[in-house]
Amino acid sequence: MGAVALPSDFVEALRARVDLAAVIGKRVRLIRRGRDLLGLCPFHNEKTPSFTVFDDHYHCFGCGAHGSAFDFLMKMEGLSFPEAVERLASDVGMALPEPSPEAREAAERRRGLAEVVETAVRHFQRSLQLPEGQEARAYLQRRGVGDDLIERFRLGFAPAGRNGLREALAREGFDEPTMVAAGLLVAPDEGGRAPYDRFRGRVMFPIMDRRGRAVAFGGRILGHGEPKYLNSPETPLFHKGQMLYGLHLAAPAARQAGTLIVAEGYMDVIGLHRVGFAHALAPLGTALTPEQIGELWRVVPEPVVLFDPDAAGLRAAARAAERVLPILRAGLGLRFSFLSTDTGDDPDGVARRYAPQFLKSALSAALSLSDMLFWMETRGRPVRTPEDRAALEARLRRHVDCIGDVSLRSHMLWGLRERVRQAGRGPARGRGDRPDAGWRDKPPVLSAREAAANAGEADTVGSRREAILLAVLLVHPDVIDRVGERLGSVGFADPVLDALRQGILAAAAAGDALDSEGLQSHLRRCGFAASLARVLDGGLGAHAFFTRPGVVFETALAGWEETFAFYCRERMRHELNQHKQALADSPSVEAYEIFQALKAQADGHADGVAAIRTESEPTALKGSSES
Ligand code: UTP
Ligand code: MN
Repeated sequence: MGAVALPSDFVEALRARVDLAAVIGKRVRLIRRGRDLLGLCPFHNEKTPSFTVFDDHYHCFGCGAHGSAFDFLMKMEGLSFPEAVERLASDVGMALPEPSPEAREAAERRRGLAEVVETAVRHFQRSLQLPEGQEARAYLQRRGVGDDLIERFRLGFAPAGRNGLREALAREGFDEPTMVAAGLLVAPDEGGRAPYDRFRGRVMFPIMDRRGRAVAFGGRILGHGEPKYLNSPETPLFHKGQMLYGLHLAAPAARQAGTLIVAEGYMDVIGLHRVGFAHALAPLGTALTPEQIGELWRVVPEPVVLFDPDAAGLRAAARAAERVLPILRAGLGLRFSFLSTDTGDDPDGVARRYAPQFLKSALSAALSLSDMLFWMETRGRPVRTPEDRAALEARLRRHVDCIGDVSLRSHMLWGLRERVRQAGRGPARGRGDRPDAGWRDKPPVLSAREAAANAGEADTVGSRREAILLAVLLVHPDVIDRVGERLGSVGFADPVLDALRQGILAAAAAGDALDSEGLQSHLRRCGFAASLARVLDGGLGAHAFFTRPGVVFETALAGWEETFAFYCRERMRHELNQHKQALADSPSVEAYEIFQALKAQADGHADGVAAIRTESEPTALKGSSES
């Protein structure tokens, strides 16, 4: 949709037409209570319904969530206001209003630009096949880009001349101002000299928008030279910080696969496609922007960043980690994967030289955001003394303070504090915790062997609970709707189960309502066969009858809720013990206050963690944030 200005009388008419209860009822189970409808709030964790739907607005008496049908869709599905309006209008069959003359003119102009860019794409594609494209074809061949990929990515060639494109486009009836506005020609500053082709002697990579419409180009020099890539300037169609290379191809594939790979460059995306990772895309040579992260989240809840294993790639990954903090929401995140090979290959190189299995295992061992922050702040700096730990905690604290969401912030803080406590002491759980593990300047990648070893780890009570939580969802996928947000906000300790947890969330986020059968076969296709077998064939039904296929929805949901409460309480107790230890190790007013706050939570609530998530930060933590 173009930027149609939405007149307020249209919005009001639509508001009046929309049946709020129906809109919400599609996503939340509502029961009638007198005049109003009541359900479990989808925006926070609760066991007794306090989410109320009135005629024209909803209100949650638990968390204060409040708003119209537009607000609901924006919040639930991450739509923008115009998108929510568009969705609701089409639901009720109201035509969107005619745009104003100015808006129509702007849309007209964009259409003209899109046409000229599309025509240029075809021109470059043709040139690649002509004799003048011989060298470029050979270059692509050498890099393993076959005809199928050339076709799929619509690669082309811009010959060396200064006027080839300009003349071709003129023959098709485009005027020069349009070509300049589309970024295809360079108009010299000094008057008099004619505009000339921007891209000369380059392999052309068209950049498409979300819908696959060509909006810009990246042009690569053949072989060595500067700049390696020349990109279109910003135009009304092309905003570099909002586009992702390959999005239109990756999005459907990612919804299928349940995961999305964010690589660093054009060639990485193409190389990953070649070996069957069609769910790969890339920003355009800059660190991920919040807008781009938002685009990624429209596709899957937890995309994996897979940047080059060099200094620039690590820096870009760290920037992405920092940028995601302010916009983090429950159930949405980023993970980070680093390929460590002796050859220092980028993902394209890895795709070419190594078995896809290597990529797969690197991706499945991706670091969580908190692992990533921890690694960023510990690499190259030993953590041995209490002073080291205090300094590390302060550095981590600065990141955590950037998290906009209060409950996520306190969660993350506790998790990181626990790790700080363990750092440089005793036998560590992760290799990143050992100052002498030799990983300091290399990213903390898990080798395939380690990943396998983790998988074989004996089930503990904790991981059995994790397995039960997943088993319920696999057998009764309709429970996911009710618990997905909470499930999205806890990382499981067992890495195999945690991967499955994300797989399930991703499948659910993809939106197709699946039955048990469908969900399981989808997950099997995504490589979770072994984890499924572990969860489903492990005899859990004997401990937890509500994981059996025969039970009704309510029983399954209640069983899940109870298990989750135990699980949270257990984690809370674990954290409490950690803090007790910390208090004994280095008594301080702050440590004491944290301990007291945690203890109060653990004593006072059946499910302490859940309670903390929904309330604001405990005072003890607030106090310490000023230090
Ligand atoms: P890379 O240098 O890693 O490029 O830059 P690449 O895609 O792997 O290409 P090859 O394999 O060297 O041919 C990553 C991305 O940064 C942007 C491009 O988007 C590129 O894909 N970039 C890089 C530029 O915009 N200009 C440049 O000069 C270099
Ligand atoms: Mn590269």
